[in-house]
Amino acid sequence: MTLKNSTLPHLLTGAELSLVQLESVLALALAQKAKPADYQQTLAGKSIATVFEKPSLRTRVSFAVGMQKLGGQALYLDEQTPGLGQRESLADYAKNLSCWCDAIVARVLKHETLQILAEHATVPVINSLCDQFHPCQALADCLTLTEQFGGLNGLHIVYAGDGNNVTRSLMLYAAMLGAHVTSVTPPDAAVDSNWLDYVNANSAGKVANANDFNGLAPVDVIYTDTWVSMGDNTPLEQVKARFLPYQINKQLIESLSPQAVMHCQPVHRGYEITSEIIDSDLSLCLQQAENRLYAQNALLSLMLADANELNQTELL
Ligand code: CP
Ligand code: NVA
Repeated sequence: MTLKNSTLPHLLTGAELSLVQLESVLALALAQKAKPADYQQTLAGKSIATVFEKPSLRTRVSFAVGMQKLGGQALYLDEQTPGLGQRESLADYAKNLSCWCDAIVARVLKHETLQILAEHATVPVINSLCDQFHPCQALADCLTLTEQFGGLNGLHIVYAGDGNNVTRSLMLYAAMLGAHVTSVTPPDAAVDSNWLDYVNANSAGKVANANDFNGLAPVDVIYTDTWVSMGDNTPLEQVKARFLPYQINKQLIESLSPQAVMHCQPVHRGYEITSEIIDSDLSLCLQQAENRLYAQNALLSLMLADANELNQTELL
């Protein structure tokens, strides 16, 4: 199948993907990772603009190198100074980029910016992180879990720390694929109940909030992310005491007995996770980083490739 001209014009919250489309992205990612030589022309002649209002290592490099591997190109637009929408309106920016590029991949401070870009662009807009969601990360995480466990159905995942953009997107895609996700956070850092309700109503798996780890063991996977996300200038030291009970450390690993530990990176050692654990055999963080490229390439292929550039049979 191809997602081009289908019901997926944009990927903003991530919920635009149906279960079949999500499974197709993961299947194509595995195929492209196994036989990259077969896909060197999949996006030949295509260009994407990658726009950043916030810093990045993994997202920036994986989109750039990923497009090159598919025969296309990615342009890096650093819009941190003076800021997106300052020199010209967001509407004009989106309309102009649509003249030259086949998609706009944007990392923005506010989700509303993506909505405005999508409203005025005539090419797909893909969210590469905003204040509320990080769907590209969640695609890579589900790819990693598929490789590690053979699939997500029935997996028990505990997310520990701050309920944020990474948590929301992980909940959505993992639960669509049948996993159960419990987010363990301080009460004022919990994922909003509207999102939990939405995911629970639209997924095979279940998602929930908790304030401690009691009764959760054993779990298959523990996931964490920074306690302070980009856009919030609070020093980590200032939130340390509040979040320390949610740190992934030796004691927590011994009590929950997970088979794997995940982190989207960048890692803040000694805060959300200890060096001993992020550097241990349990850690999947570099596999997650590597899979950003394959998950995104599969998504871009399905959204942008001409139908005859993709092998239809392996996706059905
Ligand atoms: N995980 C992630 O999105 O990393 P970057 O912020 O480095 O892109
Ligand atoms: N929650 C983090 C993720 C970084 C990849 C942030 O938004 O800064």
